[in-house]
Amino acid sequence: MSRVAVLCGLGGALPATAVSNEELAEQLDTSDRWIRTRTGIGRRHVVAPGEATSDLAVAAGRDALASARRTGGEDAAGVDLVVLATSTPDRPCPATAPDVAHRLGLGTVPAFDVSAVCTGFVYALAAAASMITAGVAERALVIGADTFSTILDPADRTTRAIFGDGAGAVVLRAGGADEPGALLGFDLGSDGSGADLITVRAGGSRQRSTPGPPGDGDHFFTMDGRPVFTRAVLDMSRSSQALLDRIGWTPAEVDKVVAHQANIRILNAVGEQLGLEEKQIVANLDRVGNTVAASIPLALRDAAADGELRPGHRVLLTGFGGGLTWGSAALVWPALETG
Ligand code: UT7
Repeated sequence: MSRVAVLCGLGGALPATAVSNEELAEQLDTSDRWIRTRTGIGRRHVVAPGEATSDLAVAAGRDALASARRTGGEDAAGVDLVVLATSTPDRPCPATAPDVAHRLGLGTVPAFDVSAVCTGFVYALAAAASMITAGVAERALVIGADTFSTILDPADRTTRAIFGDGAGAVVLRAGGADEPGALLGFDLGSDGSGADLITVRAGGSRQRSTPGPPGDGDHFFTMDGRPVFTRAVLDMSRSSQALLDRIGWTPAEVDKVVAHQANIRILNAVGEQLGLEEKQIVANLDRVGNTVAASIPLALRDAAADGELRPGHRVLLTGFGGGLTWGSAALVWPALETG
């Protein structure tokens, strides 16, 4: 039987402070009505001053390792690989994953960051699963963590309405393809011709750090919402269908689609493209907004906690983000003990 990666632990973490639409409307020219009808978001969590991405990643990682331990016994939490998906690392250099592994007490395990913005978690899952399949690792902790509140323009009502901070994590172990939790396949892609649609212009090798502050708000995150919306629908639908064709599931046979939580209208449009019913689509963005690399694992955690996601369900994950990048993964949901 072929060796694959099997999901065996799930966790997440949100910063303590929640900001409601009404609170945002006190600071910016926006309204609860606009945000709810255009995005489906009701509130988002934001980090406190001094709180960094690694702090959320450590909390989510600890939660996922505890879930793996409760599900599979003491040995189940001993991982030999950490992959962290983030586009808001603590510092541009070095990667944040080694610090996270160290603070989780995981010793000298290999640890690296993956940068694919909102597709980061699916890319990180594929990287870790492939390393398990290749025999490079036995057990991996895969974390998606972002703190976009730290890079948003405080005056940009569009991005501030959408993005929230958070972290989600899963534990993978080596196992067989017929086990519940086995990752059955991936579809990944990118299109760098859209690199400017979602970007932070300054701070890299193109627009270098200068002794003074960067000009013109270039260190803030920017997004061209309309074309990104269109591509998100197109690429998540195409990627999902490509993966379903490969593994032999029809959209109707999928119990739950856990897509990147960017906008409820995007989720509904992907559902329409794939011919899904509303009950197949998982949505938690009303409570957390778009948490970037944390979005899919946090949606999994919330759906599992609510009993919406149950053992035996056929689950499709699909994400889209800056790069542009997109990716999908499929699995049969395992029996897990979570937080
Ligand atoms: O996570 C990675 C992928 N990201 C996404 O998938 C996000 C994709 N894009 C979107 O979700 C939507 O494009 C947005 C939510 C970002 C924007 O919604 P939209 O319906 O596409 O609005 P728009 O950008 O076309 O703007 C329509 C109007 C504009 O006003 P005018 O020019 O018509 O007067 C905006 O200035 O809505 C205005 N607007 C707002 N009004 C109140 C934009 N943001 C806000 C706001 N409150 N927060």
